Amino acid sequence: MANRKFIVGNWKMNGLHDQLSDIGDIAAIASEHKDIDVAICPPTTLIAPAAEKVPDFMIGAQDCHSAANGAHTGCLSADMIRETGALLSILGHSERRADQHETDADVKAKAEAVHAAGLGAIICVGETEAERDDGKAVEVVCGQLEGSFPEEPSADWLTIAYEPVWAIGTGRVPETSDVEEMHAAIRNKLGKLMGDGADAVRILYGGSMNGGNAAALLAVPNVDGGLVGGASLTAEKFGPIIEAAA
Ligand code: G3P
Repeated sequence: MANRKFIVGNWKMNGLHDQLSDIGDIAAIASEHKDIDVAICPPTTLIAPAAEKVPDFMIGAQDCHSAANGAHTGCLSADMIRETGALLSILGHSERRADQHETDADVKAKAEAVHAAGLGAIICVGETEAERDDGKAVEVVCGQLEGSFPEEPSADWLTIAYEPVWAIGTGRVPETSDVEEMHAAIRNKLGKLMGDGADAVRILYGGSMNGGNAAALLAVPNVDGGLVGGASLTAEKFGPIIEAAA
């Protein structure tokens, strides 16, 4: 049986309080499609006001520290994230793996912290263009997945996002056959890592998804949704992706 589709907007470092109205508009569209799950992960500053504005809509964070508390200036724990009203956190996005030097072990620890706090996690994996050109995409992605994989995995709280680094924000999207191959490889790897529950873990595609290509990407086997950056910032752009998934 196909998994329920999950469409997530990652606002990255975009959005001031003025943009709360966009979250309201997006939540209104999502509320018309009860057969799928939709979330927005705004900057941390907007999580609490967004959760208050649209209490029935899923708001998430973009990162979380693995420690419960302590001397980590500028960081937020999973309990703090939960207290803002977030229900999940994106973890190990390639921008953080590159800019903040996050390792697979860091991502695994973060995922376990998020789970312990009762939040969902979306663990991101993806190859660079050089790795794909070298024919190593599947090996790299499956290696990241294994290294980042938490204890006590379950589809109840865990989602995987495949985001080829070279497709993020570039307008370039892999061939459908490459998306299919990678999502099948991730599904297979999940089977090895967690056994029976693997089929229920949702695997999202991310990287230049938009209203024009969403339907085709979401129709690929083992693509259970999308993790969307630029095209999630307004209801005008995100609405068609939600509708393509519904
Ligand atoms: O996490 C979402 C992301 O990295 C994809 O961004 O702008 O290519 O949709 P974008």
